[in-house]
Amino acid sequence: MSEAGGPLVVLVGPMGVGKSTVGELLAARLNVPYRDTDADIVEAEGRPIAEIFVDEGEAHFRELERQAVRAALAAHPGVLALGGGAVMDDGTRAALAGLPVVYLSMKVTEAIKRVGLNTARPLLAVNPRQQWKQLMESRRHLYTEVAHAVVETDDRTPEEVAQAVLDAL
Ligand code: S3P
Repeated sequence: MSEAGGPLVVLVGPMGVGKSTVGELLAARLNVPYRDTDADIVEAEGRPIAEIFVDEGEAHFRELERQAVRAALAAHPGVLALGGGAVMDDGTRAALAGLPVVYLSMKVTEAIKRVGLNTARPLLAVNPRQQWKQLMESRRHLYTEVAHAVVETDDRTPEEVAQAVLDAL
């Protein structure tokens, strides 16, 4: 499943797809720790992600994220979830090569249903319906590029998704 010392599974996919919920379930099933690079960044920076976006911009956040992903890949032996936009960075995608990466996917309509249009997430601040569509369409091929397996999440419970991830590994 993984190289010595690295994660057993890395979850990627759009925000709201359930990476944390499914990741925690998987970690419990596999009896390994769960880690999430968004949380690592918030802890290291001592402020929320939305604030990093506003104060220093998305490019700076992607740099912090690349470092957080590299550090977690080197040291985290369990289940690792990445932020929804991590795959946009070339260096982050390169770091994922050959690892057990699973792309949790969903339709745009499902994303809007799950997260809603009224959200504090920085990338959905303006015209959220259009932003959702644009974000998901522009990133789908990047998730597919890094993924070892794709697991559809529409019409599935988190437990069913976790089982599908285990089956796909
Ligand atoms: C982002 C997704 C977020 C977080 C940041 C940017 C994105 O992570 O990293 O707000 O670009 O899609 P989640 O997918 O965990 O919400």
